[in-house]
Amino acid sequence: MSTLAPPPIPSSWYSSIHPPQHGHSSVILISAPMVGCSDLPYRKLYRTLNPNVHIVIFTEMFLSDLFSTSPSYRTQCFGNNPPPDPNLVVQFASNDPNTFLQASLHVQSLGFGGVDLNLGCPQKRAREGNYGSYLTEDWDLCRDILRNTVEDERIEIPVCAKIRIQEPREDKTSEERTVEFVLMLSEVGVSMITIHGRLRGIDTDRRFGAADLSVVRSCVSAVKGKGLNTKIVTNGNVRGVRDVGENLGFTGADGIMVGEELLRKPDLFGRFMEGRGEGGEEERKLRIVKAYLKILENLEVEEGMRLEDGAKSGKNGGMVRTVVEEGAEFERMSTWWTNLEVVKSHFRWILADRGERGSKKNFGKARKVGDVINGVKKRFGIA
Ligand SMILES: Cc1cc2nc3c(=O)[nH]c(=O)nc-3n(C[C@H](O)[C@H](O)[C@H](O)COP(=O)(O)O)c2cc1C
Repeated sequence: MSTLAPPPIPSSWYSSIHPPQHGHSSVILISAPMVGCSDLPYRKLYRTLNPNVHIVIFTEMFLSDLFSTSPSYRTQCFGNNPPPDPNLVVQFASNDPNTFLQASLHVQSLGFGGVDLNLGCPQKRAREGNYGSYLTEDWDLCRDILRNTVEDERIEIPVCAKIRIQEPREDKTSEERTVEFVLMLSEVGVSMITIHGRLRGIDTDRRFGAADLSVVRSCVSAVKGKGLNTKIVTNGNVRGVRDVGENLGFTGADGIMVGEELLRKPDLFGRFMEGRGEGGEEERKLRIVKAYLKILENLEVEEGMRLEDGAKSGKNGGMVRTVVEEGAEFERMSTWWTNLEVVKSHFRWILADRGERGSKKNFGKARKVGDVINGVKKRFGIA
């Protein structure tokens, strides 16, 4: 099998650690793709709270077939004329080499930093659509989708993949199969592979239990042992600043991706890079809340983005939020747009006590973003 040099990872993706810790002098810090949570205001919050840190941000998952063919779908995802962002990686659900390539070319021409193939989504809609983790039942197809884009001479941005631990087979353990899969993708020139250290899980809980970071560690050493250039990113088990260092130290990964804990503590990466721990919980929460409120209140002025009240979640398997505008229904991805449901969800995460997702009942009665904002201000005594 031929070994391709992957498109290089941009230097702006790395944050340098001073002094070097956990065997690393630089590291790639990534905000995980999260449907309904990877919206522009929240991305601005990461940048505001961590001004000295480069954070690579993954969008929520989009559908490559629609993205490659439908200008209105692309507008629903990114609005009109979005500013380029070299640290934004656009994630796709795809099961077709050509639509993944065409979608990647659009991403590149929009000035975004990379594309990622979702090979980990465990949801029912992924099973029905044959993408995400279900696509990994056909490794050849996964390889062909990625290779077709990596090998296209027009593609200059990194082509990435996000996987889960592979299911065991009679003759091979999960760990052996995951290492084999990662090596196969590395050898076709995938620039960066994120490993979420869990199996697909069961229908009622897809992120149950601790992630198995020893599988990630084995993948790191296998890729490095073969002299391959693919960057390996570890994902799972971060529930506090200390875990970021412990995870990187244990796995030896080139980067770390965090999901839920960044929703609770969007200042996490800055604290890690500055060598600070947790602490000052109430004061910290107030700082996060105030920064988020300010971004929301300035959105219209700074981004021309209206805070949309008329949202409802759940349509099309929860991937889109629907708004009614001038009598017509539009579906907008929360990667760019924000709305009542997205804002409610963020405050639920921020206000949740440690380890809890936060009560669904929080803000349940609010029908307008303004009501949510006023409720939060009242709770924190903010004028
Ligand atoms: C609300 C939510 C939405 C998610 N959406 C996606 C997605 O669109 N694509 C994806 O690859 N993973 C998705 N994930 C999984 C995360 O990217 C991540 O792999 C997982 O949460 C484990 O990391 P963590 O323990 O740091 O949260 C989602 C997770 C959450 C909590």
